[in-house]
Amino acid sequence: METKKWLVEDIHLSYPQIKEAAEWIKANEVVAFPTETVYGLGANAYSSEAVGKIFKAKGRPSDNPLIIHISTMEQLEMLVTDIPETAKKLINKFWPGPLTIVLNKGVGIADNVTAGLSTVAIRMPDHPIALAIISEANLPIAAPSANVSGKPSPTTAQHVETDLNGKIAGIVDGGATGVGLESTVVDCTTEVPMILRPGGVTREQLEEVIGLVTVDPALEEDGQAPKSPGLKYKHYAPNAKLVLVEGSTAFLQKQVFLAKDSGKKVGVLTTNENKVNYEADVILPCGTAGNLQSVAQHLYEVLRKFDEYELDVIYSETFPEVGVGKAVMNRLTKAAGGDILSEFRV
Ligand code: TXA
Ligand code: MG
Repeated sequence: METKKWLVEDIHLSYPQIKEAAEWIKANEVVAFPTETVYGLGANAYSSEAVGKIFKAKGRPSDNPLIIHISTMEQLEMLVTDIPETAKKLINKFWPGPLTIVLNKGVGIADNVTAGLSTVAIRMPDHPIALAIISEANLPIAAPSANVSGKPSPTTAQHVETDLNGKIAGIVDGGATGVGLESTVVDCTTEVPMILRPGGVTREQLEEVIGLVTVDPALEEDGQAPKSPGLKYKHYAPNAKLVLVEGSTAFLQKQVFLAKDSGKKVGVLTTNENKVNYEADVILPCGTAGNLQSVAQHLYEVLRKFDEYELDVIYSETFPEVGVGKAVMNRLTKAAGGDILSEFRV
C-alpha cells in the first residue's frame, strides 16, 4: 500500500491534514502521529479489524496489549469500570502527559487492544497534534510506538517511514518528539499502585502525589515474568551486538581495543563530555551526561543511527539510575539483552 505523508508544521494552517488523518482513523485505517514521548501508530480502539492492522504492520506478538490514547475525561469514563482515588490524583497532576494508567477494563473496547486482559492501559498525550487527531476522530485511539517490533521507538517521522513505509495508511509528520522515551506505565488496580514500566514520569514524582508506589520486581531482578507483557520481549535493539560497560572510560576503551584486535568493527555510545576519551570506528554522543533528560531524548535516535554503519559490536556507557536515568537504563539494558561488563564485578 502507498503510505500517505502529511506534514504539519503549524497546527492551525495544517488543520485540513489533521482532519484527513482523523477521517482515515475513523475509516479503520492505521495512521502514525507524534506524541510528546515517541511516535504512535493509531487505530480506532473500538474496532478489532482496525487494531488488527497495527499488530500486522508492526509484527507485534498478539499477547502484547496496546495503550489507548484519549483527549477528554468523558472518554476515560467510557473505557473503565471505576477510577480509584490514586488514579484520580495522578490524572489531575500528570495528564496530559507521559503517564499511562492501568485500570479495570469497561465494555466496548476491541479484545485485541488488551490482548484478552481484564485491565486496560490509558493515557492522555501532551501533544497538540495527537490531541487534535483524537478529538477530530472523536474516538479513543489505540496506539503502540510506531516501530517494527523489537526496534527502537521512533522519535521522528523519518524513523517511522524507515520501519513502516508501505505497511500503513499514513504518517503525520510533526517533527521530533520531546521526551524521547515512552510513557511511565503505572497499575492503579491494586491498593498500592505499581510501576510496570519506568518512563518520563519518575517514581519520585508519583510518590510526591500519592505516597508509596511499588515497582514491578521483574524490573529489578532476573528470572521473574514482568507484569507488563511487552517487557518480556527483547526491544530497542540496534543491528550490531550492544554491550553496556560499567566503569571508567579507560575500561570501556580497553574493550574497544580487545574487539578491534579480533578484527571487529566497533562503535561507542557516549556523551558530549566523554566522547574525546575514545578511539573507535564510530563514536556517537547521546546528549550530555550532566543532563539525563537530554540522554533520554536522543537515545533511540542514536541507537538507530548505529544501524547506518556495519558494526559488529557497540560498547555503551551506563548512566546513573536516578530520575529519568532509571528509564534510560531500563531501555539500554533491554537493547543489550542484559549484556553488561563491569569494571567492579568480575
Ligand atoms: O509513550 C508511550 O507510551 C507510547 C506513545 C505512542 O504513547 N506508546 C507505547 O506503546 O510505548 P507500546 O505499545 O510500545 O508499549 C505499551 C506497553 C507495553 O509494554 C504493554 O505490554 C503495556 O504497555 N501494557 C498495555 N496494556 C497493559 C495492561 N493492561 N497491563 C499491563 N501492561 C500493559
Ligand atoms: Mg513499543
